[in-house]
Amino acid sequence: MGFLDGKVALVTGGNRGIGRGIVEALAAEGARVALTARAADAAEGAAREVGRGAIGLACDVRDFASVQKTFAEVKQKLGGLDVLVSNAGVGVFAPIADLTPEQWRTVIETNLNGVFYCAHEAIPMMRARGGGYIFNVSSLAGINPFPNGGAYNASKFGLNGFSEVLMQEVRHDGIRVSYLMPGSVATEFGGRQDGARAAAKQGWALQPADVAAIVIDLLRSPKHALYSRVEMRPSQPPKKG
Ligand SMILES: NC(=O)c1ccc[n+]([C@@H]2O[C@H](COP(=O)([O-])OP(=O)(O)OC[C@H]3O[C@@H](n4cnc5c(N)ncnc54)[C@H](OP(=O)(O)O)[C@@H]3O)[C@@H](O)[C@H]2O)c1
Repeated sequence: MGFLDGKVALVTGGNRGIGRGIVEALAAEGARVALTARAADAAEGAAREVGRGAIGLACDVRDFASVQKTFAEVKQKLGGLDVLVSNAGVGVFAPIADLTPEQWRTVIETNLNGVFYCAHEAIPMMRARGGGYIFNVSSLAGINPFPNGGAYNASKFGLNGFSEVLMQEVRHDGIRVSYLMPGSVATEFGGRQDGARAAAKQGWALQPADVAAIVIDLLRSPKHALYSRVEMRPSQPPKKG
């Protein structure tokens, strides 16, 4: 069916947006995919829509016990893990003087702690298979600071550093690590789930499928090669000023 026949993938935040695009691309190439959302019905509903044997699991990546349970379920239901896509993420944008400690914690715990928890659980499962591939979905906000980005920039700058360390630590186990830094992608990120944000970006922004295409290309790349840090951006964003 595809070059990922017999492989197992887990995509956090795979029910919508970029994660959903990656889930669909992996499933189309034959992978058995587990996708997560915080709510079980959101995860299960998305998995039903994707079909091809995808399963939906409830997981809050801020909660280590929830992450451990999710990886145990993947092992039990799908037999192991070959590909992890740590994609779940949130954005809260406000001046540092106005950002509440709770908002700060939400962003850091989701975008940074959550990625650590998932990598921590994935490594032994991939070592048991003789290798694997970990993708961390970062952002151009991980290299470009901007006002109101205090929490979000900090989380993605931290994620980039974490991904570099992870890459160096597991490469000799046959586990490749790439972190992806998209610019604007047409999703509901950071807004209400009413379609307005994605609609406003149609026509110029990257699509979830564009990010997914890179994941597929990297999985297809020869095992001796590692494209560890990938920037991607709309070719013609609206002109400033
Ligand atoms: N859109 C962009 O322009 C853009 C650009 C660069 C990078 N990114 C990054 O891309 C990733 C995906 O963003 P997106 O644009 O696809 O946004 P999105 O449509 O809002 O999707 C975010 C996903 O993360 C999940 N999520 C949020 N908090 C979670 C938690 N605590 N535990 C588990 N899952 C959680 C959401 O699931 P539920 O809410 O259903 O639980 C949802 O599936 C994020 O890491 C974001 O930083 C986005």
